[in-house]
Amino acid sequence: MEDILPLLNKYDLPLPRYTSYPTVPYWDKSGFDKESWKKAVVETFKKENGELCVYVHLPFCENLCTFCACNKRITTNHRVEEPYLDTVLKEWEMYRAMLPSKPVIREIHLGGGTPTFFSPENLITLIKGITKDATVHPDHEFSVEVHPNFTREEHLAALASVGFNRISLGVQDFDPKVQYVINRVQSFEKTKEVVEWARKLGYNSVNVDLIYGLPLQTEASIDLTISKINDLKPDRIAFYSYAFVPWKSKAQRRYTKSDLPKANEKWKMYQLGKSLLTANGYKAIGMDHFALPNDKLFEAVNKGTMHRNFMGYTTTDSKLIIALGASSIGDAWNAFAQNEDKVEEYQEMVQRGELPVIHGHILNEEDVVIRRNILDLMCKGSTKISEKTFDTATLPIALQELSLLAADGLVKADKESITVTEKGSLFIRNISSILDARMRRKKSAGNVFSKSI
Ligand SMILES: C[S@@+](CC[C@H](N)C(=O)[O-])C[C@H]1O[C@@H](n2cnc3c(N)ncnc32)[C@H](O)[C@@H]1O
Ligand code: SF4
Repeated sequence: MEDILPLLNKYDLPLPRYTSYPTVPYWDKSGFDKESWKKAVVETFKKENGELCVYVHLPFCENLCTFCACNKRITTNHRVEEPYLDTVLKEWEMYRAMLPSKPVIREIHLGGGTPTFFSPENLITLIKGITKDATVHPDHEFSVEVHPNFTREEHLAALASVGFNRISLGVQDFDPKVQYVINRVQSFEKTKEVVEWARKLGYNSVNVDLIYGLPLQTEASIDLTISKINDLKPDRIAFYSYAFVPWKSKAQRRYTKSDLPKANEKWKMYQLGKSLLTANGYKAIGMDHFALPNDKLFEAVNKGTMHRNFMGYTTTDSKLIIALGASSIGDAWNAFAQNEDKVEEYQEMVQRGELPVIHGHILNEEDVVIRRNILDLMCKGSTKISEKTFDTATLPIALQELSLLAADGLVKADKESITVTEKGSLFIRNISSILDARMRRKKSAGNVFSKSI
Protein backbone atom coordinates (compact mmCIF):
# COMPACT_ATOMS: atom_id res chain seq x y z
CA MET A 1 0.00 0.00 0.00
CA GLU A 2 1.24 3.47 -0.89
CA ASP A 3 2.60 5.48 2.04
CA ILE A 4 -0.16 8.01 2.63
CA LEU A 5 1.43 9.55 5.74
CA PRO A 6 3.12 12.50 3.94
CA LEU A 7 -0.23 13.43 2.36
CA LEU A 8 -2.05 13.17 5.69
CA ASN A 9 0.56 15.37 7.35
CA LYS A 10 0.27 17.89 4.55
CA TYR A 11 -3.52 18.03 4.22
CA ASP A 12 -4.91 17.42 7.74
CA LEU A 13 -5.90 21.07 8.22
CA PRO A 14 -8.86 22.73 10.01
CA LEU A 15 -11.43 23.06 7.20
CA PRO A 16 -15.21 23.26 6.77
CA ARG A 17 -17.38 20.20 6.04
CA TYR A 18 -19.16 22.29 3.39
CA THR A 19 -22.76 21.53 4.33
CA SER A 20 -23.26 25.08 3.02
CA TYR A 21 -21.43 27.65 0.97
CA PRO A 22 -20.56 30.19 2.26
CA THR A 23 -19.88 28.36 5.52
CA VAL A 24 -21.32 29.94 8.68
CA PRO A 25 -18.08 31.61 9.97
CA TYR A 26 -17.76 33.44 6.63
CA TRP A 27 -21.32 34.71 6.36
CA ASP A 28 -21.59 38.42 5.70
CA LYS A 29 -23.80 39.09 8.70
CA SER A 30 -23.72 42.87 8.20
CA GLY A 31 -25.37 42.51 4.78
CA PHE A 32 -28.24 40.45 6.21
CA ASP A 33 -31.62 41.51 7.55
CA LYS A 34 -34.82 39.62 8.31
CA GLU A 35 -36.79 41.37 5.57
CA SER A 36 -34.37 40.14 2.89
CA TRP A 37 -34.61 36.63 4.36
CA LYS A 38 -38.42 36.69 4.22
CA LYS A 39 -38.29 37.97 0.64
CA ALA A 40 -35.89 35.18 -0.35
CA VAL A 41 -38.17 32.56 1.27
CA VAL A 42 -41.22 33.81 -0.65
CA GLU A 43 -39.37 34.09 -3.98
CA THR A 44 -37.88 30.59 -3.72
CA PHE A 45 -41.24 29.23 -2.58
CA LYS A 46 -42.81 30.55 -5.80
CA LYS A 47 -39.96 29.24 -7.99
CA GLU A 48 -40.30 25.82 -6.37
CA ASN A 49 -44.09 25.79 -7.00
CA GLY A 50 -44.75 25.73 -3.28
CA GLU A 51 -42.55 22.72 -2.51
CA LEU A 52 -40.44 22.87 0.63
CA CYS A 53 -38.70 20.87 3.37
CA VAL A 54 -39.12 21.46 7.08
CA TYR A 55 -36.31 20.84 9.57
CA VAL A 56 -37.22 20.88 13.26
CA HIS A 57 -34.45 21.04 15.85
CA LEU A 58 -35.45 19.28 19.08
CA PRO A 59 -32.49 20.00 21.35
CA PHE A 60 -33.16 18.05 24.56
CA CYS A 61 -31.19 14.95 25.63
CA GLU A 62 -31.30 13.12 28.96
CA ASN A 63 -27.67 12.11 28.85
CA LEU A 64 -24.57 14.00 27.71
CA CYS A 65 -22.41 12.07 25.24
CA THR A 66 -19.07 13.78 25.68
CA PHE A 67 -18.01 13.52 22.02
CA CYS A 68 -21.09 15.36 20.75
CA ALA A 69 -20.74 18.61 18.78
CA CYS A 70 -24.48 19.12 18.18
CA ASN A 71 -26.50 21.92 19.71
CA LYS A 72 -28.23 20.24 22.66
CA ARG A 73 -29.64 20.87 26.13
CA ILE A 74 -29.19 18.16 28.77
CA THR A 75 -32.18 17.75 31.07
CA THR A 76 -34.41 15.09 32.60
CA ASN A 77 -37.22 17.57 33.12
CA HIS A 78 -39.92 16.70 30.60
CA ARG A 79 -41.98 19.78 31.46
CA VAL A 80 -39.90 21.56 28.82
CA GLU A 81 -41.63 19.60 26.03
CA GLU A 82 -44.91 21.47 25.68
CA PRO A 83 -43.65 25.08 25.81
CA TYR A 84 -40.96 24.18 23.29
CA LEU A 85 -43.38 22.56 20.82
CA ASP A 86 -45.88 25.36 21.27
CA THR A 87 -43.09 27.76 20.24
CA VAL A 88 -42.05 25.68 17.24
CA LEU A 89 -45.64 25.64 15.97
CA LYS A 90 -45.94 29.42 16.49
CA GLU A 91 -42.75 29.87 14.47
CA TRP A 92 -44.22 27.67 11.71
CA GLU A 93 -47.35 29.87 11.75
CA MET A 94 -45.12 32.91 11.12
CA TYR A 95 -43.72 31.24 8.00
CA ARG A 96 -47.18 30.01 6.91
CA ALA A 97 -48.46 33.60 7.12
CA MET A 98 -45.69 34.73 4.74
CA LEU A 99 -46.34 32.11 2.07
CA PRO A 100 -48.70 33.09 -0.75
CA SER A 101 -50.27 29.61 -1.05
CA LYS A 102 -50.58 26.27 0.69
CA PRO A 103 -47.13 24.63 0.92
CA VAL A 104 -46.38 21.18 -0.45
CA ILE A 105 -44.22 19.44 2.13
CA ARG A 106 -41.64 17.23 0.49
CA GLU A 107 -39.55 16.41 3.57
CA ILE A 108 -39.77 16.77 7.32
CA HIS A 109 -36.64 16.04 9.29
CA LEU A 110 -36.60 15.86 13.09
CA GLY A 111 -33.06 16.38 14.35
CA GLY A 112 -31.45 17.12 17.63
CA GLY A 113 -30.67 16.58 20.38
CA THR A 114 -32.88 13.58 20.79
CA PRO A 115 -36.28 13.99 19.10
CA THR A 116 -37.62 10.95 21.01
CA PHE A 117 -37.02 12.86 24.26
CA PHE A 118 -40.56 14.10 23.44
CA SER A 119 -43.52 11.85 24.21
CA PRO A 120 -45.18 10.01 21.30
CA GLU A 121 -48.33 12.15 21.80
CA ASN A 122 -46.34 15.38 21.65
CA LEU A 123 -44.55 14.26 18.48
CA ILE A 124 -47.93 13.60 16.84
CA THR A 125 -49.16 17.07 17.89
CA LEU A 126 -46.03 18.60 16.35
CA ILE A 127 -46.37 16.83 12.99
CA LYS A 128 -50.12 17.37 12.76
CA GLY A 129 -49.54 21.05 13.54
CA ILE A 130 -47.03 21.33 10.69
CA THR A 131 -49.07 19.41 8.12
CA LYS A 132 -52.54 20.72 8.96
CA ASP A 133 -52.67 23.56 6.40
CA ALA A 134 -50.30 21.94 3.94
CA THR A 135 -50.26 19.26 1.27
CA VAL A 136 -48.00 16.32 1.94
CA HIS A 137 -46.13 15.38 -1.25
CA PRO A 138 -47.08 11.86 -2.43
CA ASP A 139 -43.38 10.93 -2.54
CA HIS A 140 -42.52 12.53 0.81
CA GLU A 141 -39.58 11.68 3.05
CA PHE A 142 -40.19 12.16 6.77
CA SER A 143 -37.22 11.20 8.88
CA VAL A 144 -36.18 11.18 12.51
CA GLU A 145 -32.83 10.89 14.31
CA VAL A 146 -32.96 8.61 17.34
CA HIS A 147 -30.72 7.54 20.17
CA PRO A 148 -31.77 3.89 20.67
CA ASN A 149 -31.42 4.06 24.49
CA PHE A 150 -34.12 6.74 24.57
CA THR A 151 -36.51 5.30 21.98
CA ARG A 152 -39.63 3.23 22.61
CA GLU A 153 -41.69 1.35 20.06
CA GLU A 154 -44.53 3.81 20.78
CA HIS A 155 -42.35 6.67 19.49
CA LEU A 156 -41.78 4.94 16.18
CA ALA A 157 -45.43 3.87 15.89
CA ALA A 158 -46.61 7.44 16.57
CA LEU A 159 -44.29 8.88 13.93
CA ALA A 160 -45.21 6.15 11.41
CA SER A 161 -48.87 7.04 11.94
CA VAL A 162 -48.17 10.59 10.72
CA GLY A 163 -46.15 9.55 7.67
CA PHE A 164 -42.60 8.93 8.91
CA ASN A 165 -40.79 6.50 6.64
CA ARG A 166 -37.06 7.00 7.42
CA ILE A 167 -35.06 6.65 10.56
CA SER A 168 -31.46 7.33 11.53
CA LEU A 169 -29.97 5.66 14.59
CA GLY A 170 -26.93 7.04 16.39
CA VAL A 171 -24.48 4.26 17.18
CA GLN A 172 -20.96 5.77 16.85
CA ASP A 173 -19.04 2.69 18.12
CA PHE A 174 -19.77 -0.60 19.91
CA ASP A 175 -16.36 -0.95 21.61
CA PRO A 176 -17.07 -0.81 25.41
CA LYS A 177 -13.96 1.26 26.21
CA VAL A 178 -14.88 3.85 23.56
CA GLN A 179 -18.51 3.91 24.74
CA TYR A 180 -17.28 4.46 28.30
CA VAL A 181 -15.02 7.40 27.48
CA ILE A 182 -17.67 9.12 25.35
CA ASN A 183 -20.29 8.47 28.08
CA ARG A 184 -22.61 6.60 25.75
CA VAL A 185 -23.07 2.99 26.81
CA GLN A 186 -25.39 1.50 24.20
CA SER A 187 -25.87 -2.24 23.65
CA PHE A 188 -26.06 -3.98 20.31
CA GLU A 189 -29.28 -5.71 21.46
CA LYS A 190 -31.05 -2.39 22.13
CA THR A 191 -29.90 -1.02 18.78
CA LYS A 192 -31.10 -4.16 17.00
CA GLU A 193 -34.47 -3.95 18.74
CA VAL A 194 -35.03 -0.39 17.48
CA VAL A 195 -34.07 -1.40 13.91
CA GLU A 196 -36.54 -4.30 14.09
CA TRP A 197 -39.38 -2.06 15.34
CA ALA A 198 -38.70 0.39 12.50
CA ARG A 199 -38.79 -2.32 9.84
CA LYS A 200 -41.93 -3.89 11.31
CA LEU A 201 -43.64 -0.47 11.32
CA GLY A 202 -42.86 0.09 7.63
CA TYR A 203 -39.93 2.54 7.77
CA ASN A 204 -38.41 1.92 4.35
CA SER A 205 -34.94 3.30 5.02
CA VAL A 206 -32.80 2.74 8.08
CA ASN A 207 -29.59 4.72 8.52
CA VAL A 208 -26.92 4.22 11.15
CA ASP A 209 -24.37 6.89 12.20
CA LEU A 210 -20.85 5.67 12.96
CA ILE A 211 -17.75 7.74 13.74
CA TYR A 212 -14.05 7.03 13.20
CA GLY A 213 -11.37 8.88 15.15
CA LEU A 214 -13.12 8.81 18.56
CA PRO A 215 -11.03 8.81 21.77
CA LEU A 216 -9.46 5.40 22.55
CA GLN A 217 -10.81 3.98 19.28
CA THR A 218 -8.60 1.50 17.39
CA GLU A 219 -8.88 -0.52 14.20
CA ALA A 220 -10.15 -3.38 16.39
CA SER A 221 -13.05 -1.10 17.53
CA ILE A 222 -13.95 -0.41 13.89
CA ASP A 223 -13.76 -4.11 13.06
CA LEU A 224 -16.06 -5.00 15.96
CA THR A 225 -18.54 -2.19 15.25
CA ILE A 226 -18.85 -2.83 11.53
CA SER A 227 -19.18 -6.60 11.92
CA LYS A 228 -22.14 -5.97 14.26
CA ILE A 229 -23.61 -3.35 11.93
CA ASN A 230 -23.37 -5.76 9.00
CA ASP A 231 -25.75 -8.05 10.91
CA LEU A 232 -28.35 -5.24 10.98
CA LYS A 233 -27.92 -4.42 7.27
CA PRO A 234 -29.01 -0.76 7.46
CA ASP A 235 -29.81 0.72 4.04
CA ARG A 236 -27.43 3.61 4.67
CA ILE A 237 -24.45 4.27 6.88
CA ALA A 238 -22.96 7.64 7.70
CA PHE A 239 -19.33 7.04 8.63
CA TYR A 240 -18.26 10.42 9.99
CA SER A 241 -14.80 11.65 10.74
CA TYR A 242 -14.75 12.67 14.41
CA ALA A 243 -14.81 16.46 14.77
CA PHE A 244 -12.72 17.47 17.77
CA VAL A 245 -13.87 21.01 18.54
CA PRO A 246 -13.36 21.50 22.33
CA TRP A 247 -13.52 25.30 22.00
CA LYS A 248 -17.15 24.82 20.92
CA SER A 249 -18.21 21.67 22.80
CA LYS A 250 -16.84 21.94 26.32
CA ALA A 251 -17.64 18.33 27.32
CA GLN A 252 -14.98 17.23 24.84
CA ARG A 253 -12.48 18.58 27.38
CA ARG A 254 -13.00 15.43 29.49
CA TYR A 255 -10.36 13.78 27.35
CA THR A 256 -7.39 15.29 25.61
CA LYS A 257 -5.83 15.25 22.20
CA SER A 258 -3.47 12.48 23.36
CA ASP A 259 -6.48 10.11 23.73
CA LEU A 260 -7.36 10.64 20.08
CA PRO A 261 -6.03 8.56 17.20
CA LYS A 262 -3.45 10.37 15.04
CA ALA A 263 -4.24 11.32 11.42
CA ASN A 264 -2.61 8.17 9.98
CA GLU A 265 -4.46 5.94 12.48
CA LYS A 266 -7.68 7.69 11.57
CA TRP A 267 -6.98 7.10 7.90
CA LYS A 268 -6.39 3.37 8.57
CA MET A 269 -9.68 3.21 10.48
CA TYR A 270 -11.50 4.80 7.56
CA GLN A 271 -9.86 2.43 5.05
CA LEU A 272 -10.69 -0.59 7.20
CA GLY A 273 -14.30 0.55 7.61
CA LYS A 274 -14.61 1.21 3.90
CA SER A 275 -13.23 -2.20 2.92
CA LEU A 276 -15.47 -4.03 5.42
CA LEU A 277 -18.54 -2.16 4.21
CA THR A 278 -17.80 -2.57 0.50
CA ALA A 279 -17.14 -6.30 1.06
CA ASN A 280 -20.70 -6.42 2.41
CA GLY A 281 -22.30 -4.81 -0.62
CA TYR A 282 -22.22 -1.12 0.40
CA LYS A 283 -21.07 1.55 -2.04
CA ALA A 284 -19.16 4.63 -0.88
CA ILE A 285 -21.14 7.80 -1.58
CA GLY A 286 -19.98 11.40 -1.32
CA MET A 287 -17.77 12.42 1.55
CA ASP A 288 -18.76 10.03 4.32
CA HIS A 289 -21.76 7.90 3.34
CA PHE A 290 -22.31 4.30 2.30
CA ALA A 291 -25.52 2.81 0.88
CA LEU A 292 -26.85 -0.52 -0.32
CA PRO A 293 -27.66 -0.59 -4.05
CA ASN A 294 -31.43 -0.67 -3.33
CA ASP A 295 -31.30 2.61 -1.39
CA LYS A 296 -32.63 5.83 -2.95
CA LEU A 297 -29.38 7.66 -2.19
CA PHE A 298 -27.49 5.21 -4.35
CA GLU A 299 -30.05 5.68 -7.13
CA ALA A 300 -29.64 9.47 -6.79
CA VAL A 301 -25.87 9.16 -7.25
CA ASN A 302 -26.36 7.16 -10.44
CA LYS A 303 -28.88 9.68 -11.77
CA GLY A 304 -26.66 12.63 -10.75
CA THR A 305 -29.44 14.07 -8.56
CA MET A 306 -27.88 13.68 -5.11
CA HIS A 307 -27.87 16.88 -3.06
CA ARG A 308 -26.15 18.07 0.13
CA ASN A 309 -27.42 20.51 2.74
CA PHE A 310 -27.23 21.16 6.49
CA MET A 311 -28.79 17.73 7.10
CA GLY A 312 -26.07 16.00 5.05
CA TYR A 313 -26.63 14.10 1.78
CA THR A 314 -30.21 13.94 0.49
CA THR A 315 -32.08 12.57 -2.51
CA THR A 316 -34.33 15.58 -3.02
CA ASP A 317 -32.80 18.68 -4.49
CA SER A 318 -35.06 21.04 -2.56
CA LYS A 319 -34.17 24.72 -2.73
CA LEU A 320 -36.23 25.76 0.29
CA ILE A 321 -35.70 24.50 3.83
CA ILE A 322 -37.75 26.14 6.55
CA ALA A 323 -35.86 25.47 9.78
CA LEU A 324 -37.71 25.62 13.08
CA GLY A 325 -36.40 25.45 16.63
CA ALA A 326 -33.39 26.78 18.54
CA SER A 327 -30.14 27.05 16.51
CA SER A 328 -31.62 25.63 13.28
CA ILE A 329 -30.49 26.97 9.90
CA GLY A 330 -32.93 27.72 7.08
CA ASP A 331 -31.92 27.73 3.43
CA ALA A 332 -33.68 29.51 0.57
CA TRP A 333 -30.86 28.64 -1.91
CA ASN A 334 -29.81 32.27 -2.29
CA ALA A 335 -30.06 33.06 1.44
CA PHE A 336 -29.36 31.38 4.79
CA ALA A 337 -30.75 32.29 8.21
CA GLN A 338 -29.93 30.88 11.64
CA ASN A 339 -32.15 30.91 14.72
CA GLU A 340 -31.17 31.96 18.22
CA ASP A 341 -29.44 28.96 19.81
CA LYS A 342 -30.34 29.43 23.48
CA VAL A 343 -33.66 27.71 24.18
CA GLU A 344 -35.08 30.37 26.53
CA GLU A 345 -34.18 33.27 24.26
CA TYR A 346 -35.50 31.44 21.21
CA GLN A 347 -38.81 30.88 23.01
CA GLU A 348 -39.03 34.47 24.23
CA MET A 349 -38.46 35.87 20.73
CA VAL A 350 -41.18 33.71 19.16
CA GLN A 351 -43.63 34.28 22.01
CA ARG A 352 -43.35 38.05 21.51
CA GLY A 353 -44.12 37.58 17.83
CA GLU A 354 -40.58 37.98 16.48
CA LEU A 355 -39.03 35.68 13.89
CA PRO A 356 -36.19 34.12 15.98
CA VAL A 357 -33.54 34.54 13.27
CA ILE A 358 -30.36 36.10 14.69
CA HIS A 359 -28.09 36.17 11.67
CA GLY A 360 -27.72 34.95 8.13
CA HIS A 361 -26.25 35.53 4.72
CA ILE A 362 -27.67 36.69 1.39
CA LEU A 363 -25.77 35.01 -1.44
CA ASN A 364 -24.45 37.16 -4.28
CA GLU A 365 -23.97 35.90 -7.84
CA GLU A 366 -20.44 34.66 -7.14
CA ASP A 367 -21.58 32.81 -3.98
CA VAL A 368 -24.29 30.97 -5.96
CA VAL A 369 -21.79 29.87 -8.62
CA ILE A 370 -19.31 28.63 -6.01
CA ARG A 371 -22.09 26.98 -4.02
CA ARG A 372 -22.99 24.95 -7.12
CA ASN A 373 -19.29 24.13 -7.81
CA ILE A 374 -18.73 22.84 -4.26
CA LEU A 375 -22.01 20.89 -4.30
CA ASP A 376 -20.94 19.23 -7.55
CA LEU A 377 -17.58 18.25 -6.06
CA MET A 378 -19.21 16.87 -2.91
CA CYS A 379 -22.04 15.05 -4.71
CA LYS A 380 -20.66 14.12 -8.13
CA GLY A 381 -16.88 14.28 -7.69
CA SER A 382 -16.40 16.82 -10.50
CA THR A 383 -17.38 20.34 -11.47
CA LYS A 384 -17.13 22.74 -14.40
CA ILE A 385 -15.28 25.96 -13.64
CA SER A 386 -17.13 29.00 -14.95
CA GLU A 387 -15.67 32.47 -15.52
CA LYS A 388 -17.46 33.48 -12.30
CA THR A 389 -15.84 30.76 -10.14
CA PHE A 390 -12.59 32.69 -9.64
CA ASP A 391 -11.98 36.41 -9.93
CA THR A 392 -9.07 37.45 -12.16
CA ALA A 393 -6.66 37.91 -9.24
CA THR A 394 -7.45 34.48 -7.77
CA LEU A 395 -7.53 32.41 -10.96
CA PRO A 396 -3.72 31.97 -11.38
CA ILE A 397 -3.27 31.24 -7.65
CA ALA A 398 -6.12 28.69 -7.67
CA LEU A 399 -4.76 26.99 -10.79
CA GLN A 400 -1.36 26.76 -9.14
CA GLU A 401 -2.94 25.22 -6.00
CA LEU A 402 -4.91 22.77 -8.14
CA SER A 403 -1.76 21.74 -9.98
CA LEU A 404 -0.14 20.94 -6.61
CA LEU A 405 -3.16 18.77 -5.69
CA ALA A 406 -2.91 17.15 -9.14
CA ALA A 407 0.79 16.41 -8.57
CA ASP A 408 -0.24 14.55 -5.39
CA GLY A 409 -2.78 12.58 -7.44
CA LEU A 410 -5.84 14.06 -5.70
CA VAL A 411 -7.49 15.79 -8.68
CA LYS A 412 -7.41 16.10 -12.44
CA ALA A 413 -7.89 19.76 -13.21
CA ASP A 414 -7.54 22.36 -15.93
CA LYS A 415 -9.04 25.83 -16.57
CA GLU A 416 -12.41 24.26 -17.34
CA SER A 417 -13.01 21.53 -14.80
CA ILE A 418 -11.95 19.77 -11.63
CA THR A 419 -12.39 16.03 -11.10
CA VAL A 420 -11.64 14.35 -7.78
CA THR A 421 -9.65 11.10 -8.09
CA GLU A 422 -10.34 8.09 -5.90
CA LYS A 423 -7.28 8.97 -3.79
CA GLY A 424 -8.55 12.57 -3.59
CA SER A 425 -11.94 11.62 -2.14
CA LEU A 426 -10.50 11.56 1.41
CA PHE A 427 -9.27 15.12 0.81
CA ILE A 428 -12.51 16.51 -0.60
CA ARG A 429 -12.64 19.27 2.05
CA ASN A 430 -9.16 20.44 1.00
CA ILE A 431 -10.12 20.37 -2.69
CA SER A 432 -13.36 22.28 -2.09
CA SER A 433 -11.52 24.89 -0.02
CA ILE A 434 -9.63 26.04 -3.16
CA LEU A 435 -12.98 27.33 -4.44
CA ASP A 436 -13.87 28.98 -1.14
CA ALA A 437 -13.46 32.65 -2.10
CA ARG A 438 -14.92 33.96 1.18
CA MET A 439 -12.42 32.00 3.28
CA ARG A 440 -9.57 33.00 0.99
CA ARG A 441 -10.39 36.70 1.35
CA LYS A 442 -10.99 36.71 5.07
CA LYS A 443 -9.19 34.07 7.09
CA SER A 444 -10.88 33.94 10.52
CA ALA A 445 -8.68 34.31 13.53
CA GLY A 446 -8.18 31.10 15.57
CA ASN A 447 -9.90 27.73 15.33
CA VAL A 448 -13.27 27.51 13.63
CA PHE A 449 -13.23 24.09 11.96
CA SER A 450 -12.29 20.53 12.81
CA LYS A 451 -9.34 18.89 10.99
CA SER A 452 -10.14 17.79 7.43
CA ILE A 453 -9.20 14.09 7.77
C1 LIG B 1 -27.92 14.92 16.54
S1 LIG B 1 -26.76 13.74 16.58
C2 LIG B 1 -27.49 12.28 17.14
C3 LIG B 1 -28.86 11.85 17.21
C4 LIG B 1 -29.17 11.22 18.53
N1 LIG B 1 -29.23 12.26 19.53
C5 LIG B 1 -28.14 10.19 18.95
O1 LIG B 1 -27.33 10.54 19.81
O2 LIG B 1 -28.15 9.09 18.49
C6 LIG B 1 -26.48 13.26 14.90
C7 LIG B 1 -25.13 12.64 14.65
O3 LIG B 1 -24.10 13.61 14.61
C8 LIG B 1 -22.85 12.94 14.73
N2 LIG B 1 -21.94 13.72 15.57
C9 LIG B 1 -22.19 14.39 16.70
N3 LIG B 1 -21.07 14.96 17.20
C10 LIG B 1 -20.06 14.64 16.33
C11 LIG B 1 -18.67 14.93 16.29
N4 LIG B 1 -18.07 15.64 17.24
N5 LIG B 1 -17.96 14.45 15.23
C12 LIG B 1 -18.56 13.73 14.25
N6 LIG B 1 -19.87 13.41 14.25
C13 LIG B 1 -20.61 13.87 15.28
C14 LIG B 1 -23.13 11.60 15.40
O4 LIG B 1 -22.79 10.52 14.53
C15 LIG B 1 -24.62 11.64 15.67
O5 LIG B 1 -25.25 10.38 15.56
S1 SF4 C 1 -25.01 12.38 20.60
FE1 SF4 C 1 -27.22 12.60 20.57
S2 SF4 C 1 -27.89 11.99 22.65
FE2 SF4 C 1 -25.71 12.34 22.75
S3 SF4 C 1 -25.53 14.44 23.47
FE3 SF4 C 1 -25.42 14.49 21.20
S4 SF4 C 1 -27.46 14.83 20.51
FE4 SF4 C 1 -27.59 14.20 22.66
